[in-house]
Amino acid sequence: MNANTYIEENRERFLEELFALLRIPSISTDSQYAGDVRKAAEMIKQRLEEAGVDFAEIHETPLHPIVYAEKQVDASLPTVLVYGHYDVQPPDPLALWTSPPFEPTIKDEKIYARGSSDDKGQMYMHIKAMETMQALGEVPCNIKFLIEGEEEIGSDNLDNFVEAQQEKLKADVVLISDTSIIANDTPSITAGVRGMSYIEIELTGPNRDLHSGTYGGGVANPINVLTDIISSLHDEHRRISIPGFYEDVLELNENERSEMARIPFDEAAYKDSLGVKEVMGEDGFTTLERTSSRPTLDVNGIWGGYTGEGAKTVIASKASAKISMRLVPNQDPEKITKLFMEHLQKIVPPSVSIKFIPHHGGYPALTPIDSVAFQAASRAFEEVWGKTPIPKREGGSIPIVAMFEKVLGIKTVLMGFGLDSDSIHSPDEHYGIFNYFQGIETITQFYKHYQEMMKR
Ligand code: BES
Ligand code: MN
Ligand code: MN
Repeated sequence: MNANTYIEENRERFLEELFALLRIPSISTDSQYAGDVRKAAEMIKQRLEEAGVDFAEIHETPLHPIVYAEKQVDASLPTVLVYGHYDVQPPDPLALWTSPPFEPTIKDEKIYARGSSDDKGQMYMHIKAMETMQALGEVPCNIKFLIEGEEEIGSDNLDNFVEAQQEKLKADVVLISDTSIIANDTPSITAGVRGMSYIEIELTGPNRDLHSGTYGGGVANPINVLTDIISSLHDEHRRISIPGFYEDVLELNENERSEMARIPFDEAAYKDSLGVKEVMGEDGFTTLERTSSRPTLDVNGIWGGYTGEGAKTVIASKASAKISMRLVPNQDPEKITKLFMEHLQKIVPPSVSIKFIPHHGGYPALTPIDSVAFQAASRAFEEVWGKTPIPKREGGSIPIVAMFEKVLGIKTVLMGFGLDSDSIHSPDEHYGIFNYFQGIETITQFYKHYQEMMKR
């Protein structure tokens, strides 16, 4: 029997098991759900054991548990470290879901549920690939599984775990499915992810909310000041105006730009799917460059004053915003956070005071496209999808990738199977049933090719 036949024969169960995991609201950011996060970890541990690992264990952290498992086949074989996350983003805004976020529902050959694509569905493919290889009696590599519950909140405890468990985590390569392909008829392998610096700012003007008639015009309105500051952070070319911000940016060379220009991208369809009349971004760069290889600054949330029904005439005492900066190689999130705070401290007028609340950050990463592991992934795609995958950098962030390289000295292959249109982090997140099964098969083929190619 081959992998494809085994997967076909177990199709219903493979789906049902994923559904059971998707029913658990393992929202890492909300302490109310800590019990559910733990339930998800325990379910994964059990499924790993059933799939045939030598052992699976739960590691406690100050917050959410880490699941670790090993399948040791033969010390002479290469070792693959599989990373994934079982935590999910909050489902809000709930009203915009067409089916409940934690009741997986199939519509149009897609699984609708929070976490279906990011990352439970993609992580679970690895457990089913393991089961498939084990059932067929041929596990070509040693495998270590590292599945965490804090990816969506910055992976701080995993950072510590990796630092502390360097011996245990030794491997030849890291394999992650938490990214996208270009389209179901255009497979790709991700060659890099962006980093991040995330800072909340709070401006305080007068010591209390004021009548906007009595005091309006006499004191600074922190909301007005905040919007002034925010609009000054980009210049007329949509470049970020923080001094030193671009200092370490690794510019794309002409060769990389022409390679990127060959990636299929339909701008009209892109605009159409997002309901926008025009794209917008840094002058001189294409949409694909802007969203994968250029740093950005975006307000993720902004509040202050009266936002209830009707009108209330008030000058608020405080105004706040959450700002994220996506970073590219070789920007350093700690340095960028510092530059950001120094710049704002400098431009904020004396009529208000500013407070910074830094949130999680992460380093950008590039993954090699000439490595044995990348070539093995490429062969696996060719075999299962009938096409050579295109290397492509992506805009999202997986901070642990840079940590694996820095602390363990191990490079990563980002073999994701989602689509940008999966609505991850948004209402109606979904994952194609085709992608789920195709992914399981591709993973089994990766191990086969990796083992063969490492022999030479
Ligand atoms: N799976 C995503 C990252 C991703 C998305 C990579 C799309 C490539 C394409 C991951 O779960 C995620 O959402 N990461 C966060 C970073 C984290 C520090 C909160 C992100 O990118 O916002
Ligand atoms: Mn993810
Ligand atoms: Mn995510």
